[in-house]
Amino acid sequence: MPGGTDSNFRAWGEDTVYVDRGQGGRVWDMDGNEFIDLRMGYGPVILGHGDERVDDYVNERMRRGVSFSLTSEDEVEAMELLKQLTGWVGKARMTVSGTEATMHAMRIARAYTDRTKIVKFEGQYHGVHDYALISVTPNDMSELGDEENPVALAWGRGIPAAVSETIIPARYNRMDVLRRIFERDGDDIAAVIVEPVLGNAQGILPRPGFHEEMRALTREYGALLIFDEVKTGFRFARGGAAEYFGVTPDLATFAKAMGNGYPAAAFAGSDEVMSVLPDKVSHGGTYAGNRVAAAAAVATLKIIRDTDALATVRAVGRAVQAGLSEVISERGLPYVFTGDPVMFGIMFTDKAPNEYRDWATSDHELYDAVARGMMTRGAMPEPDSREPWFFCEAHAREDIVDRLVTIFADSLDAALEERAGNDGAGAGTRPQHGLGAGEQVTMAPASVD
Ligand SMILES: Cc1ncc(COP(=O)(O)O)c(C=O)c1O
Repeated sequence: MPGGTDSNFRAWGEDTVYVDRGQGGRVWDMDGNEFIDLRMGYGPVILGHGDERVDDYVNERMRRGVSFSLTSEDEVEAMELLKQLTGWVGKARMTVSGTEATMHAMRIARAYTDRTKIVKFEGQYHGVHDYALISVTPNDMSELGDEENPVALAWGRGIPAAVSETIIPARYNRMDVLRRIFERDGDDIAAVIVEPVLGNAQGILPRPGFHEEMRALTREYGALLIFDEVKTGFRFARGGAAEYFGVTPDLATFAKAMGNGYPAAAFAGSDEVMSVLPDKVSHGGTYAGNRVAAAAAVATLKIIRDTDALATVRAVGRAVQAGLSEVISERGLPYVFTGDPVMFGIMFTDKAPNEYRDWATSDHELYDAVARGMMTRGAMPEPDSREPWFFCEAHAREDIVDRLVTIFADSLDAALEERAGNDGAGAGTRPQHGLGAGEQVTMAPASVD
């Protein structure tokens, strides 16, 4: 396995973790070390590891056979639940990953509008297909190009220039840049795809009115708006970010919280937009709507619909924020919580971030040192300050919140002491999101003037 893992994002060099098991809000590595889990598998595990309500249903259903490439009752029920919870979706289809979901949503947008270009925002992550890997996550912000003229920066080799050229990078929370892009290329733009909350930079929230203005602008130019709800769906609200912000897209993608960790995902849209399927657009998949994923989605979405699970997740996040606020304020450090308590990050900065580029101006080296310290004290945040902390319903159990705050306080103190001792020299670097800056491939600037 290259890097010793099945994903670049898990290859942390000598710190790579090999996991044994998880239960509720905790995980154990192969050496038997226990951690409070703040990664929750990059977000999907919304209820907790090994949730019996979900696992029992999945187990019962999977004994009838798992793969038929025929349509089963659970798939229909899962998509009915998705429609019910979102309120605006007309039709939806299941996929196995978020990557597939965004790939299909982009193709549908292109087919429906008969246009080629897709606008995506710098720093936003939509999975690992070629069209998504543009201007995602450089460490050096200058690689993103001039602030007024962002360049299409391919993440890694192997992405054809012809593909990059169909993606127009824009800046999150910058309507002026987006408007200029539409004035220049509006007739060719099929869609804007957006993570409603910038989850690849901890969860930066939109400025008031940003989504509404984007909705109006896309309508004005006959382009579609795609909400990539892979992180926000069934987490920020039962109806995801569309409900949370009160803005309805034309298409949306879901995964993660939809199946409490099982590989359930979907793309969805209005009846009108989705009418290009099944006759005019290709979509398929041997495992699409497979028994295990569909059953997991049915059980998870019912719990999200019928219980206070999401309110509990938010209450846990709020309690953690209250504890951390006290700890950080007592030490006189500037900080901002990004996101919402259900999924938030900590930036050591006195300026509220608005877009991906702002992450670079925060004191992320201090955060990285704290994260390292937390790993040695029994909590596992992602060792990259761009990932948010994810909370699950099971984090409300036992004394997890108190333990977490104590672990954070001790780790912050140790990091500050180490910094004072090193006179600000830093304490080594973490592997950051797989590929290094040297593997970013820049396309010619798309001038926006
Ligand atoms: C917003 C967003 N879109 C798409 C994806 C890709 O999903 P997957 O990893 O299931 O392919 C992710 C994964 O982190 C994501 O956060």
